[in-house]
Amino acid sequence: MTVYLNGEYLPLADARVSVLDRGFIFGDGVYELVPVYSRKPFRLAEHLRRLQGSLDGIRLANPHTPDDWRARIERLIAAQDVADLSVYIQVTRGVAPRDHAFPKDTPPTVFMMANPLVTPDAATKARGVCAVTACDDRWLHCDIKAISLLANVLLRQQAVDAGCAETVLLRDGFLTEGAASNIFIVSEGTLVAPPKSSRMLPGITYDVVLELAAAHGVPHAVRPVAEAELRAADEVWMTSSTREVLAIVTLDGKPVGGGVPGPLARRMDGLYQDFKRSVMRA
Ligand code: PDD
Repeated sequence: MTVYLNGEYLPLADARVSVLDRGFIFGDGVYELVPVYSRKPFRLAEHLRRLQGSLDGIRLANPHTPDDWRARIERLIAAQDVADLSVYIQVTRGVAPRDHAFPKDTPPTVFMMANPLVTPDAATKARGVCAVTACDDRWLHCDIKAISLLANVLLRQQAVDAGCAETVLLRDGFLTEGAASNIFIVSEGTLVAPPKSSRMLPGITYDVVLELAAAHGVPHAVRPVAEAELRAADEVWMTSSTREVLAIVTLDGKPVGGGVPGPLARRMDGLYQDFKRSVMRA
């Protein structure tokens, strides 16, 4: 597999970063994950905008212009054998002697890799997945796509330990998001999403789902979702670039709605798959 490191394209095994990299020492960096369909990066401009927001959030200068990023990403994609990929981009504050304060005149470390895009298979989609809930004990800058994901890792592991696919997070009595996804509910026929804030990552898939809902007349609302509403919801979904639209059918061991993917989840997944065929790959 060919990866990208600081301007070079090289085999994964040859990509080397110093142990003093602030990404390794402090988790001092940000990342993006861009899905690629038929070698076309999906919503790259939006992903690069979110990357800019994350870099601004940690006060790290963007090393490249959007055009420059696009060219580098396209070259990385061209070097892969597979056409459907997830491109992982990571920018850290570079290599410097260990000191919390920002180093001066240190170039950032830029790393990119492209892995085959693995989305849920048909059987998983038809069955739905189970999830657990947990207290969202992350920091208060969850809109920054930071590489320091220890809290998310620990939270996701709670789901894995319970044999589930995701951990749904609650902060101060309200739904925020999943450990690595955004969460939607369906209540009284309306699709409801928590509003974007510093308590959640502004998902690109989240935007697509709301756009598809608007375009196809699916009743929808963006407003805070209280824990009681989450637990009483007819449907709960998770969305992300890799999980797409996936129904959560059991929450903390209790069935959600009928305990099978609901009608709106199946409809939205259909709209998303059509969108993928007609727009993302086109
Ligand atoms: N994560 N919220 C969190 C905390 C996430 O980590 C992700 C995605 C999302 C969904 O964002 P998007 O729709 O843009 O993929 C929401 C990626 C997939 C990851 O870290 O692997």
